[in-house]
Amino acid sequence: MMNVDLTLNGQPRSIPDVLPHTTLLNWLRSQGLTGSKEGCAEGECGACAVLLSRPTAEGGTRLESVNGCLLMLAGLNGQEVRTVEGLGSVAALHPVQHELAVRGGSQCGYCTPGFVVSMAAEYYRPERQAGEHGNGFELEAIHGNLCRCTGYRPIRDAAQALGQPAEGDTLAESLKQPSPLPRPLALTTPSGEFHRPSTLAEALHLLGEHPDARILAGGTDWGVDVNLKHARAAVTVAVEHLPELNTLVWTPDYLELGAGLSLSELERRLAGQVPLLHEWFPQFASRLIRNRATLGGNLGTASPIGDSPPVLLALDARVILVSGEGEREVPLSEYFTGYRQTVRSLAELIRAVRIPLPLAPVSGFYKIAKRPLDDISSVAVGIALSLEGGVVSSVRIGLGGVAATPIRALKTEAALIGQPWTSAVVRLAARVLKAEGTPLDDHRASGAYRAAMLEQTLLKFFHEQTEVGVRV
Ligand SMILES: Cc1cc2nc3c(=O)[nH]c(=O)nc-3n(C[C@H](O)[C@H](O)[C@H](O)COP(=O)(O)OP(=O)(O)OC[C@H]3O[C@@H](n4cnc5c(N)ncnc54)[C@H](O)[C@@H]3O)c2cc1C
Ligand code: FES
Ligand code: FES
Repeated sequence: MMNVDLTLNGQPRSIPDVLPHTTLLNWLRSQGLTGSKEGCAEGECGACAVLLSRPTAEGGTRLESVNGCLLMLAGLNGQEVRTVEGLGSVAALHPVQHELAVRGGSQCGYCTPGFVVSMAAEYYRPERQAGEHGNGFELEAIHGNLCRCTGYRPIRDAAQALGQPAEGDTLAESLKQPSPLPRPLALTTPSGEFHRPSTLAEALHLLGEHPDARILAGGTDWGVDVNLKHARAAVTVAVEHLPELNTLVWTPDYLELGAGLSLSELERRLAGQVPLLHEWFPQFASRLIRNRATLGGNLGTASPIGDSPPVLLALDARVILVSGEGEREVPLSEYFTGYRQTVRSLAELIRAVRIPLPLAPVSGFYKIAKRPLDDISSVAVGIALSLEGGVVSSVRIGLGGVAATPIRALKTEAALIGQPWTSAVVRLAARVLKAEGTPLDDHRASGAYRAAMLEQTLLKFFHEQTEVGVRV
């Protein structure tokens, strides 16, 4: 059996006897690195946060905070991980630790290593720059970290007191060097096989050979299943590192987004060029989760309450599926066939998502959830609209949470197309939207509430757009 090779806190480690479902967090703690804690084991609390290195476009290294409880150790072969133990020590606190300590940002301390890690990622973020509004620290860096006893004010104070890394900061210096890259791996163990293939062809061959294989991308769904449902796969095929799944290509006709790019990477690289995605990204989970979650994984789970389908349906996206037989392109509106069912065969991978260009000029995303941040939606609505001379020339509305699959609001779209974009027309269309889908009662919301939210969403979109000056 192959060893898993890691760089851990700057030191090379070659780890024997790794099993496919051993999480990074469990392994770290088994090695005595107990700074990283387990709070929830499902990506909700951030107590397990560690830093994962990834390459920057400039050839250096970016530190990203990720949930150690959701990462499979075998899926990190070749990569570099830094834990809280690798940031500072009692004798020489890291600046982040120092600020948290002197500002009273820690009481019981259970959450503190996770906060230190997420804050360190932000401290070293290459784009962070001090400006007239402070030190450039974006507080969303700690949205995925929960503290039960200190209260967030002193933690925020610590974040906002941080300066830039000092001249000669050894970690900052090391980030100028290239990041170690993912390496292929094949493990055969008594608990199953784990493959990190070196090519797409190899991945597709494995999927063709093993119809029961579990595809692994960022692991933010799979890690939860492994930890809480004790799910196990006979064969795991990790794909997120494959170059063909990491494309971001603009052509005159479409934009292609690789299914294996993390949402954070997409957010950075798109830099607001797709306003609807730009509006959606911050509403998806937390920075810790977005640093791992992929579009391929979101569409792969085919959840009716996944957030990307309403957005991508509004953008008229197409899913690029690839197998050993070649590629095919499926409109997302035809991709879902039933509750967590899709047209994707077991031998197929989602390689990319294509968004036709030009984009509709007006768009909006609405996520109705119990909490404004880091929550699963009760209802989600994506809208993309074009007007010509004040008349709706095209509109697409994607809905999540109101049927067994994500759906297009086709009746509402029909009620709007060719009509003037006026309050009276929108009020009528909103009544139509209220009746779309078959919303259910569950622990998140009642069916009646979901239907009411649909109606309100279109009214809200209209008012927001008219307020910002869309011509009617
Ligand atoms: C704390 C927390 C908060 C969350 N918040 C949200 C949220 O706000 N909105 C939301 O929509 N989701 C949310 N999720 C769910 C999850 O983060 C998303 O579904 C995410 O997009 C999954 O991507 P991944 O790469 O991590 O998937 P993985 O866990 O790696 O895989 C998920 C599934 O997709 C399949 N898969 C992965 N990649 C491919 C591919 N290329 N081709 C075919 N199949 C593939 C896998 O086999 C697996 O069945 C949350 C999860 C957690 C733990
Ligand atoms: S232990 Fe709570 S996010 Fe990992
Ligand atoms: S200091 Fe106790 S949970 Fe945060």
